Amino acid sequence: MSVLAEGYRLETDPVRFDRALMHRTLSESYWAQGLTRERMDRAVEHSLCVAAFCGDDQVGFARAVSDRAHFAWIADVFVLPEHGGKGIARAMVSHLHNHPELAGVRRFLLVTRDAEGVYEKLGYGVPDDLSWFRQHRPESGWR
Ligand SMILES: CC(C)(COP(=O)(O)OP(=O)(O)OC[C@H]1O[C@@H](n2cnc3c(N)ncnc32)[C@H](O)[C@@H]1OP(=O)(O)O)[C@@H](O)C(=O)NCCC(=O)NCCS
Repeated sequence: MSVLAEGYRLETDPVRFDRALMHRTLSESYWAQGLTRERMDRAVEHSLCVAAFCGDDQVGFARAVSDRAHFAWIADVFVLPEHGGKGIARAMVSHLHNHPELAGVRRFLLVTRDAEGVYEKLGYGVPDDLSWFRQHRPESGWR
């Protein structure tokens, strides 16, 4: 389990989350540009979430989507730049790995454009025995 730097803590109660900050940050990210607040709130509602705080301020977020038996999908990981490099992202993902609801899950999955360094030391690697398939749904109203 990753240890957080002094002054930081993790919160899992969605009531405490700073939804405005999350929406601003995620809707400007490379993977979720144009995300609506409603879509984000729906995703949060149906995920196991963790947020990092420094005092009263939320500085990071990550969530896991899972059937709580076979797989868990890690998504929407961010840490504000001014709090980067302190191990916060790894601590949040590590927290999700250790969530009691996810004990026994066989595979954790995620996609990343360039943040492999966050995940490799947590045991992630590119699968060499699987082919990824996806179906894109433009009719969802989102890219
Ligand atoms: C990527 C991001 C989440 C990293 O947050 P962070 O709290 O600074 O990361 P950590 O301090 O936990 O870093 C853990 C490790 O990952 C490495 N790392 C951090 N960001 C990285 C990046 N973008 N690419 C490669 N490695 C990275 C660190 O060097 C560190 O490695 P080390 O233990 O060998 O020193 C943060 O920079 C961010 O929000 N970026 C914009 C959004 C984004 O790309 N999110 C990831 C989507 S998959």
